[in-house]
Amino acid sequence: MFSLLLALSLLAWEAAAGLTDRAAPAALGDFTTLFQLAQQDHWENDVNLTSMSCEDLRNKTWTHLQLNNNSLQAFPACLPGGLEALDLGANQLTVLSGVEIANFPKLRALSLRHNCLQEVAWGTGALSSLQFLDLSANKLSSLPSCHTAHLQNLKWLSLAGNPISEVQPLAFSCYPQLQFLNLSATLLGRENGGGISALAFAMNVLKGDTGHRARSTIDVLDLSGTFLEKIQQEWAQDLVSLRSLHLARMAQLRSFDADLFKSLPKLRELNCQDSRALSGVRTELFD
Ligand SMILES: *[C@@H]1O[C@H](CO)[C@@H](O)[C@H](O)[C@H]1NC(C)=O
Ligand SMILES: *[C@@H]1O[C@H](CO)[C@@H](O)[C@H](O)[C@H]1NC(C)=O
Ligand SMILES: *[C@@H]1O[C@H](CO)[C@@H](O)[C@H](O)[C@H]1NC(C)=O
Ligand SMILES: *[C@@H]1O[C@H](CO)[C@@H](O)[C@H](O)[C@H]1NC(C)=O
Repeated sequence: MFSLLLALSLLAWEAAAGLTDRAAPAALGDFTTLFQLAQQDHWENDVNLTSMSCEDLRNKTWTHLQLNNNSLQAFPACLPGGLEALDLGANQLTVLSGVEIANFPKLRALSLRHNCLQEVAWGTGALSSLQFLDLSANKLSSLPSCHTAHLQNLKWLSLAGNPISEVQPLAFSCYPQLQFLNLSATLLGRENGGGISALAFAMNVLKGDTGHRARSTIDVLDLSGTFLEKIQQEWAQDLVSLRSLHLARMAQLRSFDADLFKSLPKLRELNCQDSRALSGVRTELFD
């Protein structure tokens, strides 16, 4: 039997308020400190958007604004331009566009969890400050396209709890610094879905020649609660920086590709809790 290393410290949204501009953290430990609770800034909440004029709102010097559970159906048209963290969780947004975010050049953390987003379009706007993006518990059936976008500082992305059934090639290639990716409770591996394609985590298309491919920087990947039957080397081989892999509650997960762990030289934590069909995995795999 293999050992089950249990969950890591969870990175709560509240903690993201402490996001700092420190040098890019190389490891998960450093990453957790990036979200230190101790540095939590003061959040503006209880703001009544309709009680202020657009100009008044734009002139506010607020940096941290919480507008969750406000029945908002669209991204607010008037917000302070200096925002660094914006919580729009538990509203009813259906579309997010990069054009809206580009109006906030200092925005580092954005939460849109528990909305009704069906579409995220990055566009070509500069989104260079965004580091933390929570899109969990929405209605996205596909990943935001990386075709025209380049979010050069995005480090933390959660798409958990969306009806995504396919990860297409180069899906994360516009996030050259991505370290944390949460795809848990998506529909990956469900019947008729495309699952995770071979070049899903590749950063460019130099197929085959893995020695010269740009390297994925993903450090933590959560696939818990998905329907995948197998963890395949053909997509895992691009995850050269992966340290922590979460495969909990995957009822259909039966096997790992034979040389999987040779492709994951930095892997230190593997969480397979309650993935019961895995009982037949040979321990030699872990040598
Ligand atoms: C991924 O997201 C789910 C749902 O939000 C959460 O419960 C889980 O802890 C997250 N995974 C990690 C590794 O933080
Ligand atoms: C917000 O402000 C408007 C205009 O001042 C007022 O009519 C409305 O009742 C306020 N809403 C809440 C929830 O306080
Ligand atoms: C908003 O700021 C601008 C420029 O700083 C200033 O000219 C304007 O009077 C301000 N408006 C309000 C309503 O405070
Ligand atoms: C949202 O607001 C409503 C009415 O103010 C309240 O009843 C409900 O508990 C709130 N939901 C959350 C998730 O905060």
